[in-house]
Amino acid sequence: MDDSSPLILGLSGSLRNSRFGSGSRALVTQLMGCKTQSEMTALLRDEGAFCVREFIDAGRNKGLSFDEIYRNYQRRRGERGLSNTEVALAAGLWGAMCSGARVEHLSLESVFGDKARLAQLDELREKLLRASGVLLSGPVYFGDRGSLAEDFIHFVRTDSELRQHLQSLSVKKAYAGISVGAKRNGGQETNLIYQMLDMAVSGFLAVGNDARSTSQYGGTGWAGDVGTMAEDGYGLETAIGAGRRLGEVTALIGAGQAVAARRKPKIAVWILQDKDQIARNAIENSLFHDSIREKAEIGIFDFTGQAPRRCIACDICPTESGPDEVYRCVIKSPDDLFSNFHQDLLGFDGIVIAGYSAQDTSKVCSVYQRFIERTRYLRRGDYALSNALVMPLVFEEVGARDSLNLRMLTSMIRHHTILTKPVTVSIWQGECLNIGQASDGVLEFIADCCSLVAGKDQLQNGPGLSEYNPVGYEISAEKLRQHSGKKQPKDITVLQPG
Ligand SMILES: Cc1cc2nc3c(=O)[nH]c(=O)nc-3n(C[C@H](O)[C@H](O)[C@H](O)COP(=O)(O)O)c2cc1C
Repeated sequence: MDDSSPLILGLSGSLRNSRFGSGSRALVTQLMGCKTQSEMTALLRDEGAFCVREFIDAGRNKGLSFDEIYRNYQRRRGERGLSNTEVALAAGLWGAMCSGARVEHLSLESVFGDKARLAQLDELREKLLRASGVLLSGPVYFGDRGSLAEDFIHFVRTDSELRQHLQSLSVKKAYAGISVGAKRNGGQETNLIYQMLDMAVSGFLAVGNDARSTSQYGGTGWAGDVGTMAEDGYGLETAIGAGRRLGEVTALIGAGQAVAARRKPKIAVWILQDKDQIARNAIENSLFHDSIREKAEIGIFDFTGQAPRRCIACDICPTESGPDEVYRCVIKSPDDLFSNFHQDLLGFDGIVIAGYSAQDTSKVCSVYQRFIERTRYLRRGDYALSNALVMPLVFEEVGARDSLNLRMLTSMIRHHTILTKPVTVSIWQGECLNIGQASDGVLEFIADCCSLVAGKDQLQNGPGLSEYNPVGYEISAEKLRQHSGKKQPKDITVLQPG
C-alpha cells in the first residue's frame, strides 16, 4: 500500500460512537494488524464487549440511576470499544484494505455532536477533499438514516468549498453505505437506498456491496444491544463486501485519472416506458444529439414497442455456464425481446435507463417491469452488466409522483453496476421544461464514462471478481457447480490487507 492507493474515509453515524481522535487512528492500526477475517472478527467481538463492560462499569453494577450511569458513560475517552455501527464500519474498512486501499476513520458525532467545534468541521472537509471514497455507516432510525448521517449529507450539499470541489472534479469520488438496525428487516435497505440516491445526487458515484457478498445495496447489519453486531456473520460479510467494492471501484476511478481514454465509451440508452414518444424524441433530438455522439458511441434502443415475455422464475438460471455473448435464458420465443436483442444489451460502458412518468398511466406504453425481471439471467450469468455506469433518466410530468427513478436505482445496482446522478426532465403539457439542465447531466455522465473506460484500460478490465453466488437457491448452486465443473465457494474468500 503506498500513497497512490485509494484513500477510503470511513464515517460512523452512531449516537453511541466509541472512537474519537486518537481512538480513530488506533482503530485503523488495529485493523491493519488483522491478517485474516477471523482475527478481524475476534477484534470486533472484543471491542463490542468492551462497550458492554464500560456501560456496566459506569454504574449498572452499583445500581446507580440511569441518569448517573449515562453521565458516567459520557465521560469515556474515545480510545477503545466499538458501537454496532462502528463494528460494521470497521469490517467494511477491513474489506477496503483487502482490496488495497488506505483507510481513515472519523466519528460524525465528533463533527456534528453537541460538543463539536468548527475545527472538527474543518477536519471533515479536509479529509473529504483528500479521500477517493466515502464509506458511511449508520444506524437505522425509523427505516431511514439518523440525524448525524443527515447532517453529513447536508454538509456535503451545502459547504461551498466541497460543492465546488465535487462539481469541478473531472474524476469522481465514490460512495458506499452500511446500515445497522435492531430488527432483521428493520429498514437497513430503505436507509441504504435513500442514502445512495442522495449521495449520487450530491456528486458521488455510488456502489453497493460486491458480487462475492451478492451485490445488494451495501452492508446490512442486524444488532440492537451494544456489543451484538460482531455476532451477525452475514451482516459482517455484506459490510466487508461494501468496503471491498468501494476499494475496487475507487482503484478503477484512480487508474483512469492520469490517462486519457484510448477509445470512446459505448453507451446504451434503453427506453422502457414512454408516452406519445415524448421521451424518445427528447433523447434522439435534444439529449443525445450530434455533438454528444462525437464524444461517445451511442446506441438508442426504444424497447417500448417490443414484447418481452415474463420471466418464468426457473430453478436454473442461466440455463448453462458459458460466455456472456451466448443467450442463456430458457425463454426462446421468436417474438421475445431478449431472444432478439440479447447481443445488443452487452458490452456497454454506460447504460441510460429511461422511462416516462405520467399522471395518467393509462396513456403510457411500458415494458419496464417485464424488462427488469427478465434481466435476471444477465445478473445470474456472473453479472454480465458488471461495472457499467448507470444513469436513470426519467421524463416526469409535473404532479406524476411515482417512484420510477428509485426503482431504476434499486434494480440496476443489483447488477453490480455503478450508479451516477439520476436525471429528471420535468414535463408540462407535453413540453420538456429543463432540457438544458438534463443535457448538462448527460455531459457529466459521458465524462464519467470516459474516465471509467480509461481506468478499465489501465486495469485490464478490472475491478474485482464478479462470480454469481446463488444465495437462497441450493439446487441452483449445485447445478451451477455441475455445469461449470468448479467448486462454488459457500464462504467468502478471505483476502489479506496489504
Ligand atoms: C431513535 C431510534 C430509532 C430506531 N429505529 C429503528 C428502526 O426503524 N429499525 C431498526 O431495525 N432499528 C431501529 N433502531 C435500533 C438501532 O438501529 C440499533 O440499535 C443499532 O444497533 C444502533 O447502532 P449503534 O449501536 O451503532 O448506535 C432505532 C433506534 C433508535 C434510538
